[in-house]
Amino acid sequence: MMEKIIALAKRRGFIYPSSEIYGGIAGFWDYGPLGVEFKNNLKKIWWKHMVYERDDVVGLDASIIMNPIVWERSGHVSSFADLLVECKNCHHRFRADKIEKETCPNCGQKNNFTQPKKFNILTEVYLGVTEPKQKAYLRGEITQGVFVNFKNIVDSSRVKIPFGIAQIGKAFRNEITPGNFTFRSREFEQMELEFFIYPDDKEGDKWFSYWKEERFKWYVDLGIKEKNLRFRDHEHHERAHYARFATDIEYQAPFGWSEFEGIHHRGDWDLSRHNLTYKDPNTKEEFIPWVIETSGGVDRATLFFLIDAYYEEEERVVLRLDPRLAPVKVAVFPLLANKENLVEKAKKVYNLIKGEYLTAFDDRGNIGKRYFSQDEIGTPFCVTIDFQTLADETVTVRERDSKKQERVSIDRLKDYLNQKLLI
Ligand code: GAP
Repeated sequence: MMEKIIALAKRRGFIYPSSEIYGGIAGFWDYGPLGVEFKNNLKKIWWKHMVYERDDVVGLDASIIMNPIVWERSGHVSSFADLLVECKNCHHRFRADKIEKETCPNCGQKNNFTQPKKFNILTEVYLGVTEPKQKAYLRGEITQGVFVNFKNIVDSSRVKIPFGIAQIGKAFRNEITPGNFTFRSREFEQMELEFFIYPDDKEGDKWFSYWKEERFKWYVDLGIKEKNLRFRDHEHHERAHYARFATDIEYQAPFGWSEFEGIHHRGDWDLSRHNLTYKDPNTKEEFIPWVIETSGGVDRATLFFLIDAYYEEEERVVLRLDPRLAPVKVAVFPLLANKENLVEKAKKVYNLIKGEYLTAFDDRGNIGKRYFSQDEIGTPFCVTIDFQTLADETVTVRERDSKKQERVSIDRLKDYLNQKLLI
């Protein structure tokens, strides 16, 4: 299954290995013409849901590199580490918690590993022109940018607890073993909400449950099959250094149940580390708010939406993507490529509907092949211009999943499509 998804992603322009012409680089990926559309759609829908549709969330776009003190205070310099073991035979290194049965996944030797040692996964960068250069870090989670801006946001906007700060952006981790395609990358994107609440156990439980359900529902509403999703609570020893408790939303991937969003109760860990407090505007009481976090991976969600939507049916492969996520929304074809009047009319229809979303025009090969080509990338609707169009100004609109065709007049076409595409 993974081979098929990886091949489709490459062949159709969703995802390529980074710097592939030079042999690539482990843990880095590029999103092609369809991949960037998909990811942008996903992020736009998330932002609309988390910010625009609510009254209690504002947005932020913080810098990727911050003063390195941020990472000392947040505990990442001392604790953002995985346990690493090295095979004494082939010298490959692995995450200790990912090795099964004490067998080296590279050379097969048994029980020949070094003792586990801590390996910090923050990515270092060096800045400036004078030696020694200033050491800084690419952010290991986008989250700290929110906390260090907490006071700025409270002072410059009208937020009152409970409220949230939403952010989408790149994070970097020097993963010991990147793999499973984009699942474990060294550069990836996160979509996160930090939700600030009164420091109270009941409030904490209430908001933690609320955000768990909200986030699960969001994925189901966007088309991931519920049977392929589950929650998994973290055991005490698995929790990140900042988490009082944590639950993952996991997807049943071809490589096993895998986390793609974490809901974390961070308590007052971060704000207290940064010496930040909040003054209640009514009671004038000063305190350190608690934080409930929802932290989703854009790349992992993209991968799992693709896997979940992938179907092989008789002669076609089809991605049954929610229309809101589909990279190409509509494709327009002349029935026959060699009839000038059909091609000309099809171009007019294409120009009429393009502009609001990605629209394709295709006059290659036969019409059946063109349908299948669009099915494979999840295009929800194909519009065909035929001889009847020339007589009565109607076109056929074919729906991807049912393959049913409907006759629609050109003057109604844009509204018809917008309604179906939920735009
Ligand atoms: N701010 C909390 C935080 O970063 P996390 O559980 O370490 O929590 C959140 O990461 C999400 O970020 C994960 O559920 C996953 O979707 C994504 N993520 C983490 N590491 C990743 C990696 N190496 N490659 C791709 N996505 C990753």
